Amino acid sequence: MTSISLSLLFFLLALTTPLSHSAGFVSIDCGSSKSYVDDNTIKWSGDETLINNGESHVVKDTRAVSQELTTLRAFTTRKKNCYSIEAEKGQQILLRVTFYYGNYDGKSSPPSFELHADGNYWATINFSSDDELVIYEAIYVIKGDYISVCVAQIHPNQFPFISAIQVRGLKPNMYGHVDPEYALLVRQMVAYGSNTTVRYPDDEYDREWSPELIDHGYVKLTNDAPSIEVNSTDNPPEAVLRHAVTTTSTSEPLILYTDISSTNGVPIYINMYFSEVTQLDSDQKRSFVFVIDNQIASDPIIPPYGGVLQMYLTNTTATSNTTFALVATKDSTLPPLINAMEVFYVGNTLTNGTYKKDVEALNGLQETFSVLQDWTGDPCLPASFTWDWVNCSNSDDTPRITALYLNGFGLSGSIPDLSSLDALEIIDLHNNSLTGPIPEFLSNLPSIKELNLADNKLSGPVPTSLSKNSNVELDVSGNPVLCSSSKLCSKKNKSSSGSKSSSGSAKRKSDMLPIILGVMVSSFFVFFFN
Ligand SMILES: *[C@@H]1O[C@H](CO)[C@@H](O)[C@H](O)[C@H]1NC(C)=O
Ligand SMILES: *[C@@H]1O[C@H](CO)[C@@H](O)[C@H](O)[C@H]1NC(C)=O
Ligand SMILES: *[C@@H]1O[C@H](CO)[C@@H](O)[C@H](O)[C@H]1NC(C)=O
Ligand SMILES: *[C@@H]1O[C@H](CO)[C@@H](O)[C@H](O)[C@H]1NC(C)=O
Ligand SMILES: *[C@@H]1O[C@H](CO)[C@@H](O)[C@H](O)[C@H]1NC(C)=O
Ligand SMILES: *[C@@H]1O[C@H](CO)[C@@H](O)[C@H](O)[C@H]1NC(C)=O
Ligand SMILES: *[C@@H]1O[C@H](CO)[C@@H](O)[C@H](O)[C@H]1NC(C)=O
Ligand SMILES: *[C@@H]1O[C@H](CO)[C@@H](O)[C@H](O)[C@H]1NC(C)=O
Ligand SMILES: *[C@@H]1O[C@H](CO)[C@@H](O)[C@H](O)[C@H]1NC(C)=O
Repeated sequence: MTSISLSLLFFLLALTTPLSHSAGFVSIDCGSSKSYVDDNTIKWSGDETLINNGESHVVKDTRAVSQELTTLRAFTTRKKNCYSIEAEKGQQILLRVTFYYGNYDGKSSPPSFELHADGNYWATINFSSDDELVIYEAIYVIKGDYISVCVAQIHPNQFPFISAIQVRGLKPNMYGHVDPEYALLVRQMVAYGSNTTVRYPDDEYDREWSPELIDHGYVKLTNDAPSIEVNSTDNPPEAVLRHAVTTTSTSEPLILYTDISSTNGVPIYINMYFSEVTQLDSDQKRSFVFVIDNQIASDPIIPPYGGVLQMYLTNTTATSNTTFALVATKDSTLPPLINAMEVFYVGNTLTNGTYKKDVEALNGLQETFSVLQDWTGDPCLPASFTWDWVNCSNSDDTPRITALYLNGFGLSGSIPDLSSLDALEIIDLHNNSLTGPIPEFLSNLPSIKELNLADNKLSGPVPTSLSKNSNVELDVSGNPVLCSSSKLCSKKNKSSSGSKSSSGSAKRKSDMLPIILGVMVSSFFVFFFN
């Protein structure tokens, strides 16, 4: 008997695991090293292979929390810490990030910090109690080749943490009623008349539909259709159409209680799903309209039996005082009903992120110098969380890397090829242990203004292009510069205007590059291009 049920269990696991494994279905239990399958047949994995920063902790208060919430990863050293999850560019996803403090540090003082996704500010995370579960969900189209989920410190001694990350791939045509340049921030997903949360495997996209309790005097309905054809683009799971609520009479409107914050008029997007629950007699009719603040906002809605009708509301702002209701039309013999509803805030325009070639070049630099690998996520965005050792242009929507401040990072080996970082104006590599020749590309960077290579172990001649175009600086203590090239030594010394930028565009022949170089002996070479 036991062996039969065991093999049945394995058979079920074998059936469900491939879907959970597929690229669009990732569940990360932060701070855990275990892999396991939960009660919803969702396969979780630990986060050790995804992140180098942070420390894992076990929460103290594990009462009534699911397994993924019993561990977390907290970050005490870097300001911004990010998970990078492989994804397909252009894919639409549901991203769910979960935070459960559970007094893991024994201080009974949950922190406040920021949540970012793909370089976009998403939310400031606050907790009202030690055991509050905070969940953020968004639906958006990925612009890069990976998803980056970051938590960032905003207060001293309040350390960001994260409990779980879930990525669910959606079909490309879903949620197409809102411009894909915007994220949909999930506010509510409601399964009216259901007595349990509907999610995976009942919803193949693992949206979490909360049961709406039957209060307000509403009546619960159960759909008796033998099958329900779901042909609406946003693919509600059949499970949420199996129940509905209605009012007791046609004269009673069905008020939709939304959870829209009272702060101010936010742009919202609402999806409603209607499915008739029983085969109506020829003398029965269920017809109703959608009403916002007593204004009719739709044509008559007649829910199909064995099918679904989707209605959506976009380009609308609302406050907690806005009332949404379903009101029976005059010819209706039955009161209005509703099966399911989704409410979203429409987020700000999604950033395209830092210029892709610059990001790739920085990632290459991080591969060469592992000490730089602690910096993760978008290097420039959000602007207040730019990596410590870069500077970025902030003039347009796509930031470029304009400076590398890598002095005193203990870098060793030769200077890597940075030629693709062609918006660089400042390169500061002084006080490292770099060896080998000074590469030619340094003088060919079109915007370079300042190059500091002092206090390294560089050798070989200064490339002629560099010495021609640059102006040697004195060292900080005013000592004359030591040169390996007489040409370089003969150049005029630093002019006071050395570091000012020329009027933009391409480098002129007469421009001079201030460079600090350390050649053979530890010495000071600064090149200023002006
Ligand atoms: C968290 O607190 C900050 C500042 O106190 C506030 O601006 C923010 O709106 C709060 N976030 C939430 C989700 O309540
Ligand atoms: C609603 O907004 C979308 C972009 O979010 C736009 O494409 C569409 O034209 C707008 N519709 C109306 C009726 O304004
Ligand atoms: C929920 O409803 C189903 C039938 O729809 C029933 O079998 C189940 O016992 C109910 N569960 C609870 C917790 O009420
Ligand atoms: C869905 O199917 C119904 C018939 O069952 C049809 O009237 C409706 O146009 C279909 N909707 C879409 C979006 O295909
Ligand atoms: C909602 O209505 C109440 C009372 O009419 C009013 O005090 C409050 O300012 C309103 N809130 C919003 C967000 O409009
Ligand atoms: C970084 O660049 C911005 C202009 O994009 C400039 O205003 C700022 O001073 C720079 N910061 C540093 C530390 O160089
Ligand atoms: C992102 O890039 C697209 C196409 O390159 C452009 O149309 C869009 O305006 C950009 N968005 C932002 C926020 O810069
Ligand atoms: C040089 O860098 C090291 C770290 O690699 C640092 O400890 C030292 O203070 C730096 N020296 C100067 C003069 O900045
Ligand atoms: C650099 O220029 C200053 C005046 O601007 C001059 O006093 C100094 O001697 C010069 N140094 C060298 C090494 O030529």
